[in-house]
Amino acid sequence: MKYNFDELVDRRNSDSVKWRELEEFQGEKDVLPMWVADMDFKSSDEIIEALKTRVEHGIFGYPYIDDSFYESIINWIKNRYNWEIKKEWILFTPGVVMGLNIGVRELVEEGEKVLVQSPVYPPFYRVVNNNKRIVNNVPLIHNGEKFVMDYENLEKKIDDDTKLMMLCSPHNPVGRVWTKEELIKLGDICINNNIIIISDEIHCDLTLKGHKHIPLASISKELEERTITLMAPSKTFNIAGLHTSVAIIPNENLRNKYSRAIEIMEIGNISIFGALALETAYNHGGQWLKEVMEYIESNIDFAIDYINKNIPEIKVHKPEGTYLLWLDFRSLNKSSDEISEALIKNGKVYLNDGRPYGPGGEGYFRLNIACPRAILEDGLNRIEKAVKSLQ
Ligand SMILES: Cc1ncc(COP(=O)(O)O)c(C=O)c1O
Repeated sequence: MKYNFDELVDRRNSDSVKWRELEEFQGEKDVLPMWVADMDFKSSDEIIEALKTRVEHGIFGYPYIDDSFYESIINWIKNRYNWEIKKEWILFTPGVVMGLNIGVRELVEEGEKVLVQSPVYPPFYRVVNNNKRIVNNVPLIHNGEKFVMDYENLEKKIDDDTKLMMLCSPHNPVGRVWTKEELIKLGDICINNNIIIISDEIHCDLTLKGHKHIPLASISKELEERTITLMAPSKTFNIAGLHTSVAIIPNENLRNKYSRAIEIMEIGNISIFGALALETAYNHGGQWLKEVMEYIESNIDFAIDYINKNIPEIKVHKPEGTYLLWLDFRSLNKSSDEISEALIKNGKVYLNDGRPYGPGGEGYFRLNIACPRAILEDGLNRIEKAVKSLQ
């Protein structure tokens, strides 16, 4: 291993939202943050070195984005996902959530509906509701083994007002890496009902052994024509604070609409650091990613083993991707408020409450395990203490 992911990096004084929010907003001190999806690992040496060189240059004017930037994206996607994309399909967005927001505003009229599958990353609801569009939720179902899509209910709930689907692939928080068969079934429903899809694939690089991410748009020309794919190096390389992501839109009509919205909002300029980090990550980050995923997988196995042995009240399944565990506390028969209070006040640990993830989130909490093993062990001890305090 070239990288040392056991290294403890103090983030308390680094203006990290993960490490400061609880103290700032709730006055709680000494609470271990295991919530928001960023990693407590340093990014790759290659990215850090490239940024250092840029900082030392000392001038941070508007960047010129040349072909090498686009090529890094095109090659990454071709090499990892065998999907050949063209330079002109790529638009920049200052974040994937902004990318979702643009899609909702441009492709759906006020009062029309957007399909989502709960439980899902909370901004999926926000971008629909804040824009006065309507959420058409078709919850995922648990088949005893894993969460799966409810195709029957999807067909039932799609009506003439349903124009767009926001797909989370791989899925946050349930950790599914959708298979080709699942994506084809979903795609067929969207094609038959003339629904455009925004596929949020921000977690695409974070797949665990035995699972392969398939970009929805890579499956067929028909899907390519109706899919807006959102990708970014932000989750993959722990550079979310650089706010750099891309929308890949093969369909010219859709792309023109989307790109006009970017123009109108004047948000098409990319940050000099974000552009450099993206290009460096995609050109040189492969080894770091391989190693970090090995570490993450061993953390996931460790956490699940610990929970099964010491906190059997919590039910957990191994995810197929992401570094997030979706923990089911419902056997405790306590409200989410009671569990949340026990975690923060008694255990001194902070997880994401499942409720903002929509229907199906009550009684669940999301645990981020992308941290050095020592922090993970400490966090699991704290969760155990919180659960015992509820009994
Ligand atoms: C599914 C999903 N989409 C988007 C984001 C955030 O994207 P950004 O920070 O680029 O807006 C996250 C962050 O956790 C996420 O899980």
